[in-house]
Amino acid sequence: MSTPSEDHQSLHAARLKYRRCLLEYFNGDQQICSDEAYDAVISELAGLQSRRPEWRVWESAATRVVAPAMEAAPTRRHESPMLSLANAYSLDELREWERGLLRLVPGENLAYVAELKVDGLAVAIHYEGGVLASAVTRGDGTAGEVVTPNAKTIRGLPHVLPQTIDLEVRGEVYYSLEAFGRLNAARERMGEPPFKTPRNAAAGTLRMMDASVVGARGLSVVIYAVAAGSPKPTHWETLAWLRSLNLPVGEHSERLESLAEVERFQARWESGRKTLPFQIDGVVVKVDNLELQERMGSTAKSPRWAVALKFAAQRVASRLLEVKPGVGRTGILTPVAILEAVELGGTTVSRATLHNYDQIERLGLMTGDRVFVEKGGEIIPKIVDVDRDARSGGERAIEPPQGCPSCGNPPVRLEGEVDLRCINPECPAQREDRIRHFVSRPAMDIETIGPALIGQLIDKGLVRSVADLYRLGTSQLESLERMGSKSAANVLGAIDASRAQPLHRLLHALGIRHVGERTARILARHFASLAALRRASPEEMEDIKEIGSVIAQSVHAFFQDPGQVAIIDSLRNLGIDPISVEAQSAKSQPAKSQFAKSQSMEAQPVEAQDGQPQPPQGNLQGKLQGKTVVITGTLSEPRSRWKARIEEAGGILTGSVSKKTDYLLAGAAAGSKLAAAQRLNIPIVEEAEMRRLLEGQFMEGQIMPGQILEGQ
Ligand code: IVH
Repeated sequence: MSTPSEDHQSLHAARLKYRRCLLEYFNGDQQICSDEAYDAVISELAGLQSRRPEWRVWESAATRVVAPAMEAAPTRRHESPMLSLANAYSLDELREWERGLLRLVPGENLAYVAELKVDGLAVAIHYEGGVLASAVTRGDGTAGEVVTPNAKTIRGLPHVLPQTIDLEVRGEVYYSLEAFGRLNAARERMGEPPFKTPRNAAAGTLRMMDASVVGARGLSVVIYAVAAGSPKPTHWETLAWLRSLNLPVGEHSERLESLAEVERFQARWESGRKTLPFQIDGVVVKVDNLELQERMGSTAKSPRWAVALKFAAQRVASRLLEVKPGVGRTGILTPVAILEAVELGGTTVSRATLHNYDQIERLGLMTGDRVFVEKGGEIIPKIVDVDRDARSGGERAIEPPQGCPSCGNPPVRLEGEVDLRCINPECPAQREDRIRHFVSRPAMDIETIGPALIGQLIDKGLVRSVADLYRLGTSQLESLERMGSKSAANVLGAIDASRAQPLHRLLHALGIRHVGERTARILARHFASLAALRRASPEEMEDIKEIGSVIAQSVHAFFQDPGQVAIIDSLRNLGIDPISVEAQSAKSQPAKSQFAKSQSMEAQPVEAQDGQPQPPQGNLQGKLQGKTVVITGTLSEPRSRWKARIEEAGGILTGSVSKKTDYLLAGAAAGSKLAAAQRLNIPIVEEAEMRRLLEGQFMEGQIMPGQILEGQ
C-alpha cells in the first residue's frame, strides 16, 4: 500500500507525462508519445484517482475515463443559434447558389473554403480562460443538451488551450469507421441491436449518461468554426488560428479561388471518400471572406454564405442469393437479403435489409436476380432496384415464410401492420432475444450472462421469462456446460446486483415497444414506481411533454397484457420493484460525500428549461421530506425549477394523482389531474402557497383541499 505522499508524487509525475503526451499529440510532426504510452498514462492517472477521488479534477486526463455518471442532461440555450446548412445536390444547384450570392454582393470576387462534410453531430464547445468549460449539443438550434463530461472523453479535444482566452468553437462529433465497427461488434456480442449509422451511434453516445462508457467508445471531433467574432478576417485564417490553438481542425480543407476549383474538390472527394477513415456525405463550401459572410447574412435556418454539396448515394450491382427471415424479441420476421459479396463505399457488402415482405413484392424481387444495392446515409445497404433485363428464367419467386424460423408457428399480420409477426409467446428466438435485451448493458446490465449462456438456459428449460433469472440457483447453473462453481457464483452475484438497478433500467429492460433508454428515463422520472406507471392512463402519460400518443398507447397496452403483467408480478414477488433514481435520492438525502465535493468544480449547475442557471434556493432540506407531489397546469416559472426545488426539499415527484399523493401543485388551466385531486381530497396548492410551504411557514395539514387556485 503506498503512502498519501507517494501517491501524490506519482500523480504529479503522471500529470506531467500526460501534458507532455498531449502537447506531442497535437503539435509534434513525429509522435514521440505512442498510443500505447498515452493509454498507459491515462490508466495510471485513472488508477491513482480511483484511490483518491478528490484528485478527479478537470485538468486531468482521467476525467476522460472516469468522469461521474450524469443522471439527466440539463439543457442550455446557445448564445448564437446553431444553424444548419442548405443543401445542393448537383453542380447546377451549386452554380445557382453562387449566382444568388453575387446578387447580394454584386461585383465581388468570391473565394471559397471547401471542407469535408463529416456525418456526425454538431456541438458547441466553450473554453473559459483557455479551459474546456462546457459542451452543448445542437439540440433544436436554439438550445441543446449539456454533455460536458462526455465531450471531455473525446480524444484529441484539448482540455486546456495554450492561450487563456474565452472562446466558443463549433464542430462535429463523429465515429471513425473503425471505432464504429468496434462499437457495433461489442453491441452484437452483448445482444444489443447495432447502431445503423456512425451518426446515430455518435448521437446516442454523446447523450449517454455515463461518461466512463463514452470514454471507452472512442468518439472523435472536428472543429470547423468559431461561434462568433473570429479575430481573423477570413475563414481560412480562422481555421489556421484554431489549429494553432491545438484544436482538431479538418486536415482536408482547401482554400479555392473559384467555383471550378470547388467542383474539382467535390469530384475528388466523391471518389476519394472510401480512403477516409470516417464517413462523409458531401463537401461544405463556405465563402472565405468574413466581411462578405456578414453582408450575405443568414436565413432562420442556415447561413447564405455556406452550402452543403451532397454526394449521390453509392450504388453497385450484386446478385441476390437468398432471402432469410430473422426473428427478434418483438416477433417481427424481417427478411434479410443474402448477396454475392461486393465492394461498396469501402466495405464488403454481403447482406442487405429488406424491411418487410411488402417491400419484396414492391420491388418484384426474385431469388437469383441481379440487384442494385445502395448505401445512402445508412451504413446498412439496401436493395433499391432489380435488373429485370438480366433475368435468365432460372430465378425463383420469394414466398413469405409459412412458419417462424425459430418455432415453426405460422406468422400473422396484425391489423394495420405491414410486418409479419410470430405471436407464439413460447417462441425460443423471441424468448432468447428478450432475455438478451433484459441483461444488456443499458438495461439491467447483467454482463456475465452472454448469448451462449442464455441459449443453454433456455434449451435446458431453466429460464422461460426474465423473472426466472432471479430464481436460478447454484446447482442449476453448475449443471451447465463450461460452468464451474466460480463462474456460477459470478453469474448469481451479477444477477443479485441487478436488483439494485433503478426503475428506468427495468422499464427499458422489459422491452416495451417504443420505450428506449431515453423514454424509460422520462417515464421513470415522472411516475417514480412501476405501480404508478401501471395505473396511469394514456392521457396522464401524454401530459408529459416528451411523451406522445404512440408511446402512451404502447405503454398502456403493455400493462394490459396478461403475460407481461404476470412477469411484472413475478418480478415484484422476487423483490424486483425498483423506484426511480430521483425518488431514491429524495428518500436517502445523503450528506455530500467527499467525492461529490471534489466534483463540484466539474459539476454543471442545474439548468432550468429557460437556460438560466438555477439560483440557490436556500436551505430547503427536508421541508417536503417523503411527500409525494404532482405538478399540473401552467406555472409562472419553468416546471424544471419547481421540480428541482421540490426535490431539494425531499419531495418525490410523480406524474399522476393517486390516493398516495400528498400535494397537487396546480397552475393555470389545470385539467384532469385537478379533478382527480378534488375527487380524492388531495391538498391542492398554488404556486405562492408552495413557496411558503417550502419556506416552512405552513404546518402540514393547514392546506385544505381545493384552496385558492390560479386560473379558476
Ligand atoms: S458549417 C453555420 N462545416 O452539417 C454553419 N457544418 O447539414 C454551420 N457539418 O449542422 C455548419 N461538417 O452539423 C459545417 N465542415 C463542416 C461540417 C458541417 C459537417 C454538419 C453540421 C451542420 C450540418 C448541416
